[in-house]
Amino acid sequence: MPATSVIGAQWGDEGKGKIIDLVTHEADVVVRFQGGANAGHTVIVEGREFVFHLLPSGVLHEGKLNVLANGVVIDPATLLSEIDQFESGGYSLRERLRVSGAAHCVLPYHKVLDQLREGDKAGVKIGTTGRGIGPAYADKANRCGVRMWDLIDEDRLASRLQANITDKNRIVTKLFGADALDYDAIFEEAREQGRRLAPMVADTGRILREHLSKGSHVFFEGAQGLMLDLDHGTYPFVTSSNSDSLGIAAGTGVPPSAIGRQIGVSKAYCTRVGAGPFPSELHDATGDRLREGGGEFGATTGRPRRCGWLDVPAARYAAQVCGFDGLAITKLDVLSEFDQVGLCVAYDINGETVEDYPVDTPLVEQAVPIVKMFDGWTGDLSGIRNAADLPANARAFVDEICERVGVPWEIVSVGPGRESTIIRDTP
Ligand code: IMP
Repeated sequence: MPATSVIGAQWGDEGKGKIIDLVTHEADVVVRFQGGANAGHTVIVEGREFVFHLLPSGVLHEGKLNVLANGVVIDPATLLSEIDQFESGGYSLRERLRVSGAAHCVLPYHKVLDQLREGDKAGVKIGTTGRGIGPAYADKANRCGVRMWDLIDEDRLASRLQANITDKNRIVTKLFGADALDYDAIFEEAREQGRRLAPMVADTGRILREHLSKGSHVFFEGAQGLMLDLDHGTYPFVTSSNSDSLGIAAGTGVPPSAIGRQIGVSKAYCTRVGAGPFPSELHDATGDRLREGGGEFGATTGRPRRCGWLDVPAARYAAQVCGFDGLAITKLDVLSEFDQVGLCVAYDINGETVEDYPVDTPLVEQAVPIVKMFDGWTGDLSGIRNAADLPANARAFVDEICERVGVPWEIVSVGPGRESTIIRDTP
C-alpha cells in the first residue's frame, strides 16, 4: 500500500506525535489534511525543543516533502513563526514545504469571534482552543473565506478582506459590543504574510496524486481524533473538521481508494480537554494520578486534561467508522504501579446495559460507565521491545483492549522517547 495514515481513536492527544514520528521514516511525503493550529505537538531534535501546531511532522526528516493540504485552516502568522523557529535552528524547510492554495486562512477576526462566542453567556461553551478554527471553517462553508490563493494576490485579498471585515464588524460591534476590527492593519499584515508564503503555495492535490501514481509513500497525519469529528463525534462538543480518516479525501484531493493502511491511536487510558461528555472520566484521586503520571496538560493551551479509563465502546465506534487496520496503544507505562487498572466495557443508560456507542450526545451524557477492573503490574516497561516480555497482566490488558475494539495492535508505546516502543513482529 503506498499510503498510511495515523488517526486519533479518542478525543485527541492520544500520543499520535510519537507514532507519527515512528512511521514517517517510511514516507516520501507527509500531509496534514484537516484542523489547524488547535493541534500541538512537542518534538525534540538534537536536544532542541520545537512545539508545532501547523507544520507536519515530516519536517523533522530531511528529504521528505511536507504538505499542508486544502482541508487545513492556516493561520499565516503561526505558520510563518513555526517556519522561522525551525529554520533558525539551521534546518532548511521552504524547498520541502508546500501549502495548498485552496486551504483557508485563519485571520485575526476568526480568533476574535472564537473568543467572543466562547465568552458569550447565552451560547454553548465548547471549550475551544481559541485559535479561530470554528469561525474559519464557518466562513469556508459560508463561501466567504479567504484562501491561500487570495492571500498571495493583493487585489483578491483586498476585496475578500473588505467584504469580510465589514460583515464581521457588524457582529463584533453590534452583537458583542466589542471594538471594531481595523481593516488597514489586517490587510497590511496579511499582504506581507502572503508575500512571504507565496513561493510555497501550490496545487497540492495535483502534487499528491502525482506522487501516489508513481508509487511514492504518502503519509497522512491526523490531528485531534474521531470523537472530536464534526459529523461523528460528540456534537456540538467537537472541532470543526472531519478529524480522522474520513477527512483525508476531501481534505487533500486524492481519491478515497488511495488512503491505504490506517493506524488508529489510543492511549491505554483516556483524556479529553474542553467541554462535552466523557463517560469514563474519573473525578477522583485516580484521575489525578493519571494526569500527573501521564503529564496530561495541553500542548496548545496548557489546560489540564480530564482523565479516565479507556472507553471501549467509543474506541470500537472509532475503529468501525474509520476502518482501522491496526491499533497503536500509547502510554501503557503510565498505568504501571496501579494496584488495579480499569477498562470501560459498556455503559448503563437509564438502567440498560449498552455495549455500542450511542452516538446521540444527550445519551452519551447520561451514560454511566461499566468498568471491568484488571490486576495491575509493577516495574519499568520502558526497556521492553517485545510483547512477550511484558508483565503478564499488562499483556492481558492490551489483548483484551484489542479483542474488544476488534483491531489487532501494531505498536505499543511503553515509555517516553522513540525507542520505548514494541512493534509487532519485532524479532
Ligand atoms: P477548536 O478545535 O479549537 O474549535 O476546539 C473544539 C474542541 O476540540 C475543544 O473541546 C478543544 O479542546 C478540542 N480540541 C481541538 N484541538 C484539539 C487537540 O489537538 N487535542 C485535543 N482536543 C482538541
